[in-house]
Amino acid sequence: MLALDVLDEKNALKIAEETCEYIDSIKIGYPLVLGTDLKIIEKIKNLTGKEVICDFKVADIPSTNEKIAELTLNYADGIICQGFVGKDSVSAILNIARKKNKKVIVVTEMSHPGATEYLKNVANDMADMAKNLKVDGIVAPSTRVERLKELKKIVGDLFIISPGVGAQGGDLKEVLNVLDENDYVIIGRAIYESENPKESAKNYKMQISTF
Ligand code: XMP
Repeated sequence: MLALDVLDEKNALKIAEETCEYIDSIKIGYPLVLGTDLKIIEKIKNLTGKEVICDFKVADIPSTNEKIAELTLNYADGIICQGFVGKDSVSAILNIARKKNKKVIVVTEMSHPGATEYLKNVANDMADMAKNLKVDGIVAPSTRVERLKELKKIVGDLFIISPGVGAQGGDLKEVLNVLDENDYVIIGRAIYESENPKESAKNYKMQISTF
């Protein structure tokens, strides 16, 4: 899953087009949507034929979450929300997504060092909630493989999307030892900031498919 966190349309479309034969899915977030607008999603989808997931880490009260999900899922194939806001807030998003046949992915433990201060302590409970609510997937860290393993055990057949390989130092092989074919490794800067994004995407694809 390519994390396409560039800021302008031209660059985003160029990288998306160059790399799309080597990726399965594209994740965009505030950087690109605030730098352009939600219609960038249609443009990426038309150009690449790939699904686009919006990483908005939605974290509000149920009625506001509902509005954000409604607008986002008019365009995107899925939306990422925070789990720490509780099951009523996550359910509000899930209700909208189910009507539109779209995906909901819940953040459990984030990949950056700060996630060990607070999130790590409640991440297992959030994974449990995600499983009980029957969302589609969770986000879990490639930077802490032991935690990735534990979270995967909790969520069972929900898929995992996992950031942290590349710029954040996660080891691809260790991560692939934990994930299975339904899961996704998220890679951003190591592709879009490389001198040759196409080659970088191709190289990751090769490592993943020959693992
Ligand atoms: P890099 O450039 O580090 O990009 O390969 C990683 C992408 O993933 C996002 N990110 C996260 N998203 N939970 C999330 O929902 C996380 O723990 C997490 N860690 C990183 C980041 O914003 C970027 O798009």
